[in-house]
Amino acid sequence: MTDPLVIFTPSGKRGRFPVGTPVLTAARQLGVDLDSVCGGRGICSKCQITPSYGDFPKHGVTVADGALSDWNAVEQRYQDKRGLKPGRRLGCQATIQGDVVIDVPPESQVHKQVIRKAATARAITMDPATRLFFVEVAQPDMHTPTGDFERLKRALHDQWQIGDMRADLSVLAKLQPTLRKGNWQVTVALHQDHHGGPARLIEIWPGLHENGLYGLAIDLGSTTIAAHLCDLQTGDVIASSGLMNPQIRFGEDLMSRVSYAMMNPGGDREMTNAVRGALNDLAKSLTDEAQIDPSLLVEAVFVCNPVMHHLLLGIDPVELGQAPFALATSDSISMPATQLDLSALNARAQVYILPCIAGHVGADAAAVTLSEEPNKSKDLALIVDVGTNAEILLGNETRVLACSSPTGPAFEGAQISSGQRAAPGAIERVEIAPATKEPRFRIIGVDMWSDDPAFAQAATATGITGICGSGIIEAVAEMRMAGLLDPSGLIGSAEQTGTPRCIPQGRTNAYVLWDGTADGGPLITVTQGDIRAIQLAKSALYAGARLLMDEMGVDKVDRVVLAGAFGAHISPKHAMVLGMIPDVPLDKVQSAGNAAGTGARIALCNIAARSEIEQTVHQITKVETAIEPRFQEHFVAANAIPHATDPFPELSK
Ligand code: FES
Repeated sequence: MTDPLVIFTPSGKRGRFPVGTPVLTAARQLGVDLDSVCGGRGICSKCQITPSYGDFPKHGVTVADGALSDWNAVEQRYQDKRGLKPGRRLGCQATIQGDVVIDVPPESQVHKQVIRKAATARAITMDPATRLFFVEVAQPDMHTPTGDFERLKRALHDQWQIGDMRADLSVLAKLQPTLRKGNWQVTVALHQDHHGGPARLIEIWPGLHENGLYGLAIDLGSTTIAAHLCDLQTGDVIASSGLMNPQIRFGEDLMSRVSYAMMNPGGDREMTNAVRGALNDLAKSLTDEAQIDPSLLVEAVFVCNPVMHHLLLGIDPVELGQAPFALATSDSISMPATQLDLSALNARAQVYILPCIAGHVGADAAAVTLSEEPNKSKDLALIVDVGTNAEILLGNETRVLACSSPTGPAFEGAQISSGQRAAPGAIERVEIAPATKEPRFRIIGVDMWSDDPAFAQAATATGITGICGSGIIEAVAEMRMAGLLDPSGLIGSAEQTGTPRCIPQGRTNAYVLWDGTADGGPLITVTQGDIRAIQLAKSALYAGARLLMDEMGVDKVDRVVLAGAFGAHISPKHAMVLGMIPDVPLDKVQSAGNAAGTGARIALCNIAARSEIEQTVHQITKVETAIEPRFQEHFVAANAIPHATDPFPELSK
């Protein structure tokens, strides 16, 4: 007689199994996603399935009553204590007795987290470094005098195939009372490094632990620190928060922080302490917001530029300020969080920092690579992570190049006369009518243009306070399109442009975007100095991209991806009018949002991704802008708007 046929839905996977095979065993053998936390002991209920009965012509089977075994004592005990939904069975207890069709409901499927990127979504199977294991430990007896820890290791080996395990004294001290409180059943959180080696015992709870396990994905930028609190079982983002990097008081950009460390003995330590303090504040605010016990926070993944990387680790970044820009280490780093003074996490939480690509291209660029996958792209992608420093990647499945370019803080509204960070009241969008030269704009926090009759009333709460990075880019590009600027970036006078909005300012001119002085508000102008600051920033960005294109031997790219929080707000059209990015059809310019943060989440949720990026960074060719003479040539030519020599045919379409 042939063995019964088992068909799983929705996967459609099928196979024949001997009578008496547990459904969970059949699912595992067929590769069906069916969860199990307790290892098939009838405790966790993660393995719930729904058998279907009757005729299934589509599948060619008839399922009779009795296709699954009757409830056994374990399943009955679960039903009596906690109850199962009608029609549900425990897959680890029900055994196969005849042909059967079995549905695996979504909550019983091994979790896949879909992480969204620019134009696609990447499904990440949840396989974090720290996971929960429910285990039954043998009780001690007089004849086999082994320690409780050794019997826990034996149980983990026998029930979960865990090899060796190590434990800190702090968790070892909890072991005996926890085992006895749980009546020799405990749940442990184990951290298993993707490089192998013994597992680390992070935490232990009596009985079945059902309060979850969490991790942080942190993008440590020079201006802002952004963090996601993620559920390590489902991959869901439970809470997100960000704060200003307190190192700003030591210098706005990276090089001024390196200078601070050079000029002030102990300055690097001051900056290290400042950022670690902020990280603890951020972790605490996230666990407070999510109402999670901080001891459940067992992992943190960091992505950051090389200077932030060194300052987080407590390494003086002075070598990063001078050629040949040597990193103390470019490899990925795994370490206990306590070594970084991160006290707002579990006392035995582990930290993973992605590898750096080179002295000026850090773990943040590695994270963008992990998220955007230029190394798997068929077409040639230019990926620009715009911040105080721009990280630039150019590549496809054949080759990937990377560089960083010192754009400075102008794109973030700094060094601009009326500049401010993106906050309510900041001008973020600008249009200038070519015929009248009159502007209209939008401010953050008010959902209408400034020429709307209701605007003045709507803007009273925030006021009109200044202009942020995306606003100044649009303003300069619009001024060029309206003929207020010549290609060299010079603002015309009132006579030359025909508008009284162009006012003299010393020996140059400025354009009045908003005059609120009659009501005690600010006079917001775009000055010649502002135009020069934007020209310097955009020239640095374009020159970096062109340098990589030279190195690749191409004069055009297939698509451009703008990453970073700021990249998400740049208008592709205005970026191209300014000549920030090479000429490309506008529909080929995508925004990736915080791609570095997405890369950190991927590495938090899946340890294979850690191995993947560690290999990929070795295949990326680094181009050093600081010592490359062609960078200067490209920089000078890119000073014109959009460019002195490079054509921009897409702009005239
Ligand atoms: Fe835990 Fe079935 S696997 S109850």
